[in-house]
Amino acid sequence: MATTHHHVTESTDRKSTVTFDVERVRKDFPVLNQKVHGKPLVYLDNAATSQKPLVVIKAEEHFYRHDCSNIHRGVHELSERATRSYEDARVKIQRFLNARESKEIIFVRGATEAINLVASSFGRKNVNAGDEILITAMEHHSNIVPWQILCEEKGAKLRVAPINDRGELLFDQFEKLLGPKTRLVAAVHVSNVLGTVNPVREMIEAAHRKGIPVLLDGAQAAPHVAVDVQELECDFYTFSGHKLYGPTGVGVLYGRADLLDAMPPYQGGGDMISSVTFEKTIYNSLPYKFEAGTPNIAAGIALGAAIDYLKSIGMESITAYEDELLAYATEAFSRIPRLKIIGTADKKTGVISFVMEGMHPHDVGTILDQEGIAVRTGHHCAQPLMERFRIPATTRASLAFYNTRKEIDALIAGISKVKELLD
Ligand SMILES: Cc1ncc(COP(=O)(O)O)c(C=O)c1O
Repeated sequence: MATTHHHVTESTDRKSTVTFDVERVRKDFPVLNQKVHGKPLVYLDNAATSQKPLVVIKAEEHFYRHDCSNIHRGVHELSERATRSYEDARVKIQRFLNARESKEIIFVRGATEAINLVASSFGRKNVNAGDEILITAMEHHSNIVPWQILCEEKGAKLRVAPINDRGELLFDQFEKLLGPKTRLVAAVHVSNVLGTVNPVREMIEAAHRKGIPVLLDGAQAAPHVAVDVQELECDFYTFSGHKLYGPTGVGVLYGRADLLDAMPPYQGGGDMISSVTFEKTIYNSLPYKFEAGTPNIAAGIALGAAIDYLKSIGMESITAYEDELLAYATEAFSRIPRLKIIGTADKKTGVISFVMEGMHPHDVGTILDQEGIAVRTGHHCAQPLMERFRIPATTRASLAFYNTRKEIDALIAGISKVKELLD
């Protein structure tokens, strides 16, 4: 199990107000202890996917070693064990998001599938010709393309709320775009490129005043901040297991039960029915109505283990530590000449994207890799956002709570090397 000595306390060190036993945390992540190109690995690509603590790896292994069986079907011991563990994981997720009921938690493959589910099912039922879906200018392709497909099919229109040069939503404009034809707002909670934390509470309030439901793409928020869907009053919330220190191939759609109940099924097959004849099928109740076919059982169970692990550290501690690390990195970056941070919102978390004058991000990333530093370069599946800033790509360093100031220093040294080689 995870260690318990992770406190955020006031420190006498002037530079830091947060102490957090990061070295102890790092021991929970076997992958971090390695060299890449002869240098200690500095993993700063956590927004793409995060590393897994041993408890998660062991939970997957335990399932395959001891309990491997299909769920919701067997009357035998293994199937009952597997079913219990899987449904326990659902309850862990329910508590993690503070959902009212576990049937509001739908297991999917990831944030992308969760959004597609809502676009297909909610969209099919509630969106008609001339209607509008409102997104923002900082969406990931996963929260653009499913709505474009829906709009094309239905003759509806995709509206986009603009942002300022710092990467903050223009709230007045957002509010103006909420109209009688808006059927849904689908917005990112935290931007994967800019790190912007959107004013989601205010956005939801504004939408609800006009009776419009809101979906939040929480892929980059859930790993960094505590999420309370009842407090937010959001209607749908999505995230991916693999960005939350869990396995790939599993993710979550939270939906308000009354909305989910009224939606048609997403996919047809086993587990989503209560009875089938060739004439008529009666659909299963929530959450199974949306869970056709055998899911990634091991990954679901291991996601539950990831949530237990995060709870043992505490999301508040994680947020405080990461915010402090981000501030440290931002300050260091701001001293590098001809480097520009893309995304300087007042409220930010987890991510520093940057461009360097006269240097292509891919070259920057390649040189950093030679230093053992893993960052992401490219458009980050947010091409319209790149266009908004009139850049082809960025280099992105994205943080996790196992990252250290020393690693930020290594990144800064790596950037000096980049300058030496490319300038
Ligand atoms: C903001 C955001 N939304 C959605 C996704 C899609 O997540 P997944 O590929 O796990 O479905 C990502 C992943 O990069 C993301 O950053």
